[in-house]
Amino acid sequence: MRSLFTIVLLSLSFTLVSCFDKSKPNYQYFPNMYESLPYDTYGEYDIFPEEQSALLLDDRTISRGFTPYDYEDSSEGYSAAKSDLKNEMSYTQENLAEGKQLYTIYCATCHGDKGDGKGYLVEREKILGVPSYDDQGRAITEGSVYHVMWHGINTMGSYASQMNNSELWAVTHYVMQLKDDLEGNEPREFETESE
Ligand code: HEC
Repeated sequence: MRSLFTIVLLSLSFTLVSCFDKSKPNYQYFPNMYESLPYDTYGEYDIFPEEQSALLLDDRTISRGFTPYDYEDSSEGYSAAKSDLKNEMSYTQENLAEGKQLYTIYCATCHGDKGDGKGYLVEREKILGVPSYDDQGRAITEGSVYHVMWHGINTMGSYASQMNNSELWAVTHYVMQLKDDLEGNEPREFETESE
């Protein structure tokens, strides 16, 4: 009798041990905590037609508040932006003041308060090759200014993640105004309605 009991006990424990899988939770005391009751977003369920789960985002989806920019980061993209891209933000005193403020934060360290390429970092020889905005060889336009802020150019980084679309355009206004000052042009007249 005793030996029969031992045999039964031994075979039982073997069965238990052989079923044990270390990679999984073997006993689920509260299954609801392991297996979720609601449908998983991308799970596959019979109730959806053609194994469709949650809808995938459309390729053209953009985040709210983000303005897509179509000109590529290439020399063709640069030239196209330079000739075709125009600043649609109205040229008002407020917009220019905002541009100046952002310019002082983000650009003046290299480009200088006047846009002559003699910023703080240039004077301390921390960075080389910063052009003046009246550099004739570059002949910057509002489109090219926006383009280089968006994509960066050589050692100058991109500002697309630091400023939103209207901020980039405000800075563009200010850069073009600095260019006019450097070239000794008449200041551009302000538009009356503000944006
Ligand atoms: C870290 C220094 C640095 C900062 C900060 C910087 N730039 Fe530049 N920028 C450069 C250098 C260097 C170049 C020349 C790049 C080249 O063409 O080799 C340049 C070139 C430019 C040009 C001429 C590009 C062309 O079309 O040839 C413009 C316009 C310009 N920067 C605008 C800006 C504006 C606006 C900001 C602020 C949002 C800014 N930069 C911030 C270093 C800087």
